[in-house]
Amino acid sequence: MTDTPPKPKFHVGLRSGYHSPQVQVAIRLNTNESPFPPPINWQNDLAKEISNGQFNRYPDRQAMALRQEIGLLHGLGPEMVWCGNGSNEIIQSILLAYANSESNVMVFEPTYALHSHIAKIVGANVCTFWRDDNFQVTPEAIKKGINEASPDVIFFCSPNNPTGNLELEDSIDLALEMAPGVVVVDEAYVQFASSSCLEKLKRSSRLILVRTFSKTWAMAGVRLGYALANSEVISSLAAVTLPYNLNTISQIAGRLALNYQNEMQERVSALVQQRSRLTSGLASLDVKVWPSEANFILFRPNSVEASKLWQLLVDQSVLIRDASTWPGLDNCLRVTVGNHDEVTRFLEALSKSLG
Ligand SMILES: Cc1ncc(COP(=O)(O)O)c(C=O)c1O
Repeated sequence: MTDTPPKPKFHVGLRSGYHSPQVQVAIRLNTNESPFPPPINWQNDLAKEISNGQFNRYPDRQAMALRQEIGLLHGLGPEMVWCGNGSNEIIQSILLAYANSESNVMVFEPTYALHSHIAKIVGANVCTFWRDDNFQVTPEAIKKGINEASPDVIFFCSPNNPTGNLELEDSIDLALEMAPGVVVVDEAYVQFASSSCLEKLKRSSRLILVRTFSKTWAMAGVRLGYALANSEVISSLAAVTLPYNLNTISQIAGRLALNYQNEMQERVSALVQQRSRLTSGLASLDVKVWPSEANFILFRPNSVEASKLWQLLVDQSVLIRDASTWPGLDNCLRVTVGNHDEVTRFLEALSKSLG
């Protein structure tokens, strides 16, 4: 018998072209991170608490202190909060709890790739519907989708990555009314936007909101995300989560970060200003640009191939995201909003590349 490793049962990888190349450049505007470090006082507080940490002991399995503080931030009790290693882990827990090989999971492309990717990993059938020309999920699309697919899980993303628009209020309300299963609204970028679905939690026990510390809290390296939902839904997420999933340091880091809400808001405001600059700069060039409520902007060069333009930018040490092979995004690129200097350098490099 030959000694070959067994074949894995799971065969779907992330769609080709999804992962951003990790190349060394001066200006990194490819993964929607914050260009600003978190507050220095937060780092000092963290170092202090860690120096007193009991690292021979497992962390609090319930992450109760952190959930309590996050709950307070949103006017909710800890029973309506669940935490994970980044919001990707939260999305995984939602799918483990509410989908299996007999389930349909509904997504509206173009959207965040991990929703459908993790749905496939848990063996669910992904039912893809399409956004309209302005990247909106219309009430008509919701009706059609729910009637056809009767999905156990519906994913929205507001603001939607990579298109930047908020989901329509009416569409989410209609989905909550009609859905036979849970309705997830991924709000990873919501602090950059003009509205959220938080209020809807009071009215619907089917709604799950997904949030992260990776973007507005400038803590992508910590890997911390959370879900807000009805307490029974939270218990279901807890039931499929590995024991002690969230390490002691992440729990402390998240709890302490919440003492720096003003600093977080200052960073968000600075980025919203740079977003306006970036939008105007793009609008003056030979590209189509879509309005954004997030910390990234989608655009399409009118007379150059996106992948060529991407390379021309890399050659000038500017890295953005080539979205041109993603569903429904022919010849599109996505740029993260950086600090003042990064936006200037990007616009100069882009202008030069477009000739
Ligand atoms: C819409 C959306 N949701 C979730 C995530 C995952 O974020 P994290 O796992 O860092 O919390 C991202 C990351 O880019 C995202 O764009």
